[in-house]
Amino acid sequence: MQINKILITGVAGFIGSNLLDFLLKKTSWDIVGIDNLSTGSKNNIAHQLAHPKFKFIEANVSSIDSIKEYDCIFHLAALPRIQPSFEFVTEHINENLVCSMHLIELMIKENYFPKFVFSSSSAIYGTPSVIPTPESEKIDCLSPYAFQKYEVEKYLELLSERYPLDYICLRYFNPYGPRSFNPENKFNAYSSVVGIFLYRKEKGQKLLVTGDGSQKRDFIHVADLAKANYLAAINPNKLNTAFNIGNGSTLSVLELAKLISGKDYEFIPKREGESDITFADVKKAIEILGWHPEQNMEDYLKNN
Ligand SMILES: NC(=O)c1ccc[n+]([C@@H]2O[C@H](COP(=O)([O-])OP(=O)(O)OC[C@H]3O[C@@H](n4cnc5c(N)ncnc54)[C@H](O)[C@@H]3O)[C@@H](O)[C@H]2O)c1
Repeated sequence: MQINKILITGVAGFIGSNLLDFLLKKTSWDIVGIDNLSTGSKNNIAHQLAHPKFKFIEANVSSIDSIKEYDCIFHLAALPRIQPSFEFVTEHINENLVCSMHLIELMIKENYFPKFVFSSSSAIYGTPSVIPTPESEKIDCLSPYAFQKYEVEKYLELLSERYPLDYICLRYFNPYGPRSFNPENKFNAYSSVVGIFLYRKEKGQKLLVTGDGSQKRDFIHVADLAKANYLAAINPNKLNTAFNIGNGSTLSVLELAKLISGKDYEFIPKREGESDITFADVKKAIEILGWHPEQNMEDYLKNN
């Protein structure tokens, strides 16, 4: 199907705003972005608000009443932090599961099935037993957040047996890149670790390393995530499957702290519900989507 008009939910967030930049540069698609600014910020998209191909709607995903005008939906809107999902459980169920189901139900109600690219997470693997981790790894959700992401994946799978859904789940590993830390975000203490480390360094504050810092993460630049979303959208086949989107390498949080600040860090208690290691096997995305990671963490840190 030819793509003319698309929807990005969560467009004012870290990944959504970078996806917007990527698509405005790469395509001539008409882009509608929706965001309720709960954790995102209008500052993230201020530079694009006058772009003739972009329209911003400040609203909740649950208020969308039709999706018929879109050829593709990139669904990123969510509350994406593990720790708050243990405390504000119902709020996270609403934002992460119910809002996603609202979009999927609209497709069923309108009998219209645009390509649906869902932002999932490597958190659904817990601490995996197979390293690097392929998509076939067992699911082991250690937090409500991970469970809600997996529920959406599972609903897509179940409902696609009855309805002609056309979806792709992208399991992001640990994203970094511009705008990853929003100081106004109510859950910012739990932001992606690269963003929060760079922010604290800029403010002259010690970096806070959780546990002993030996937990390893597969860090993936947000431009590589944007490209994966784009390649998922333009893939002509109905794939109805999930892809790991990581760098295919791993670095410990302590090594990262040292790279960013030398010795200027201290340890804080380990947090429950977080994996000991994330390390993506990305062969499936390379083979089927024609995607591969291009950005390099050391280059990024040199320039930031
Ligand atoms: N950043 C990560 O570490 C990471 C890792 C894996 C997966 N993901 C997934 O990627 C997606 C984007 O994450 P992010 O890091 O950009 O988060 P973010 O918090 O920066 O962006 C999410 C955006 O969604 C908006 N939003 C939330 N609920 C909404 C609703 N009901 N209606 C409208 N807008 C709503 C927020 O205001 C925010 O702008 C999420 O689905 C997240 O689960 C993120």
